[in-house]
Amino acid sequence: MTMTYDSIRAVQWLGDRLRLLDQRLLPREERWFECRDYRQVTQAIKELAVRGAPAIGIAAAWGVVLAAREGLPLDAPLAELRAARPTAVNLMWALDRMKTAIAQGADTTALEREAQAIQDEDLQANRRMGDLGAALISPGSGVLTHCNTGSLATAGFGTALGVIRAGAANGRIERVYAGETRPWQQGARLTMWELVRDGIPARLIADSAAAHLMRSGEVQWVIVGADRIAANGDTANKIGTYQLAIAARHHGVKFMVVAPSSTVDMATASGDDIEIELRDAAELLSVGGQRTVVEGAEAWNPVFDVTPAELIDAIVTERGVIERPTAAAMQAMFGR
Ligand code: MRU
Repeated sequence: MTMTYDSIRAVQWLGDRLRLLDQRLLPREERWFECRDYRQVTQAIKELAVRGAPAIGIAAAWGVVLAAREGLPLDAPLAELRAARPTAVNLMWALDRMKTAIAQGADTTALEREAQAIQDEDLQANRRMGDLGAALISPGSGVLTHCNTGSLATAGFGTALGVIRAGAANGRIERVYAGETRPWQQGARLTMWELVRDGIPARLIADSAAAHLMRSGEVQWVIVGADRIAANGDTANKIGTYQLAIAARHHGVKFMVVAPSSTVDMATASGDDIEIELRDAAELLSVGGQRTVVEGAEAWNPVFDVTPAELIDAIVTERGVIERPTAAAMQAMFGR
């Protein structure tokens, strides 16, 4: 088995168009979604062809480049891209960076350089976080992750999955478990695909098996990514993360959040102020396009939740690690 631990690049700029590895179809099919204008990028973000907080920020930055190449006034593209999804702040962060470049008079070439910088910096941040996060883990540990935070969700390597890649490579992590992540199955469809491709042994669990797994003593850390970290350390991430944090604390399992500083939103005081995306109930009423629930049934489908800072043992960013996060520690690292 090849042990590359990092072979996937899901967001690719080809000079005149953006190529996205379509995450709606994996692992059944590896098909690329080509965006030749910013509207297609907006659509790809809304429909989850590209997903994961850093990846949607990077894709949106390239969307601005496509709009500039079309010679469009950029206010409407910026606004449409920004409204594509509400919770992951990396989207707004990347668009603000592009907006600043525009305000400074950047031409299309300069905007292209800015988008490439956003993408390259994300990959660098992930490698740094991989080292920082893995260093917190005792050799021979087991870990549980949730959703997909890997190369598919970032410029490459991943956030939480980057820590798992680094920890698997240096022997600190011996056992990896991934929750399915109902209803969209990011864990089952995407994380397991990445881990198998990279030759990292891992086992899928039903989301509902998590507390039972923790009780067994097989995992010492839960490691997750983030869509937005508020100024007090409260963290929005994929639905189901909060219940993992509660179960982890109960069982003496440590809980690590791994995210680049582009996910930190110091303008949002606490998790109560984070908008939680509600998606179509249809995503919950069907599996793989097949209706599984009786016609006439309703569903509630929030796709993120907020884990309070007091349940988090470590927030790992490329700037450093905050253990037991507080507003003061967040301010010291991220305050302006
Ligand atoms: O709805 P998704 O698939 O975009 O949600 C993704 C997550 O919640 C991830 O955990 C988060 O974006 C971090 S990705 C490095």
